[in-house]
Amino acid sequence: MYNFPKSFLWGGATAANQLEGAWDVDGKQPSTNDALPGGKDRLKIIDSDTFDWQIDNSRYRYPNHRGIDYYHHFKEDIQLFAQMGFKCYRFSIAWSRIYPNGDDIRPNEQGLKFYDAVIDECLKYNIQPVITISHYELPLNLAVKYGGWKNRQLITFYERFAETVLKRYGDRVQYWMTFNEINSAFHFPALGQGMIPSTGSKDYTNVFQAWHNQFVASALAVKVGHEIDPNLKIGCMTLYITSYAVDDDPINQLANLKQKQDFNFFCTDVQVRGHYPASTQRIYHDYNVDQSKLIQTDADFKLLAKYPVDYIGFSYYNSSVVDVTHVHQEKAQGNLNGGVRNTHLAESEWGWQIDPVGLRIALNELYGRYEKPLFVVENGLGAIDKPDEHFMIADDYRIDFLRQHIEAMAAAIDDGVYLMGYTPWGCIDLVSASTGEMSKRYGFIYVDLDDNGEGTLKRYKKKSFDWYQEVIKTNGENL
Ligand code: BG6
Repeated sequence: MYNFPKSFLWGGATAANQLEGAWDVDGKQPSTNDALPGGKDRLKIIDSDTFDWQIDNSRYRYPNHRGIDYYHHFKEDIQLFAQMGFKCYRFSIAWSRIYPNGDDIRPNEQGLKFYDAVIDECLKYNIQPVITISHYELPLNLAVKYGGWKNRQLITFYERFAETVLKRYGDRVQYWMTFNEINSAFHFPALGQGMIPSTGSKDYTNVFQAWHNQFVASALAVKVGHEIDPNLKIGCMTLYITSYAVDDDPINQLANLKQKQDFNFFCTDVQVRGHYPASTQRIYHDYNVDQSKLIQTDADFKLLAKYPVDYIGFSYYNSSVVDVTHVHQEKAQGNLNGGVRNTHLAESEWGWQIDPVGLRIALNELYGRYEKPLFVVENGLGAIDKPDEHFMIADDYRIDFLRQHIEAMAAAIDDGVYLMGYTPWGCIDLVSASTGEMSKRYGFIYVDLDDNGEGTLKRYKKKSFDWYQEVIKTNGENL
């Protein structure tokens, strides 16, 4: 007997740039994600000194340009989500559909109409939209002309964008998040901050300036949202990686404490508590931040204090092990940050270590620290699915993964955690963020498309589709 509340928001999650395709239609201009080449080396390429945001079709494939062509299939896809019984669906708005260059004064009506249609389609089935205002992309122009989020002007551009979408959709959409995985810039500022080595991403002064600008922008979104309707719930979204010290050596224990303060808590502290944490000076010191260059005003600090977020959305895929004394040599992979191998854990085909207990710990750590509602807005197993000749996919490995993580959430609820909902990542197969591959699949729905862009784009239900339908129907009882 599990204690999922009756109102528990079961659903699934996607992001515009990874599934919509239609990258240059109906007034949309390129986003930073449209300039990311496909392939396992994607993150290395964008992290190299020579990368300059140029879209060069003679050198690279750009799988995000076509995505899974959700732009033209969303009705069919949302109908499938409805069949599974989704209570909510988390998706993001492509900023460059609404403000194609980011610095435009007027929004693009065709872009706004597209999300009207998506939202209305969800509501037709009583699926509550959960919207990420900015998921790992900004209009390319803001990265090229303004150098990304280190530039304070982006606050104004984001405020305009956020206000436009909150006003337009706020009557139909209650749940919002301001920035996807805001803390991921510790490792890859290109994704969330639109900064690359040639525009200063290797200098943490810029990264922390970009965060400050995003914190202010996020607070402004909360302000505007609550002015439109005090019942709107506007959350932050962080990438949570439960970390363990490799052994009981106090040196490793201390390093693990710092890792948590830096990666897991720094951004969330500001967005939830409304002020920078006590560890800020230590963190600035460790990351060589030149404080004399940071632009942070009293008005900013007041805004942060006045408009904290309403809830904490977070993604959880894997845990990591901190080992500064080099007990283990073998490295692990993981969602942007792997650490060393944990000998107790199995791993995915991409080397991400599978740790449901780590999710229970994450939920307890976050709730214990903030006592604000939590929402697991991403979780899942990226795996290679092998369809038979009838496109049947027996993805028992995915079912096992999700079952164990749902059990961990149930246990955390029993521990006293207030958990609002669960939206597993990539509920329909889509382009991987870190590798640009289609073959790294998370979905309950298979999309016939391969890494070379070949395939019919037809949708097929996997075994996990029926399983998740039953989970939702029984409010998490039948796992
Ligand atoms: C999260 C992102 O980091 O992890 C998603 O918010 C991403 O955009 C997901 O797709 C899974 O990562 P990947 O690299 O396997 O697609």
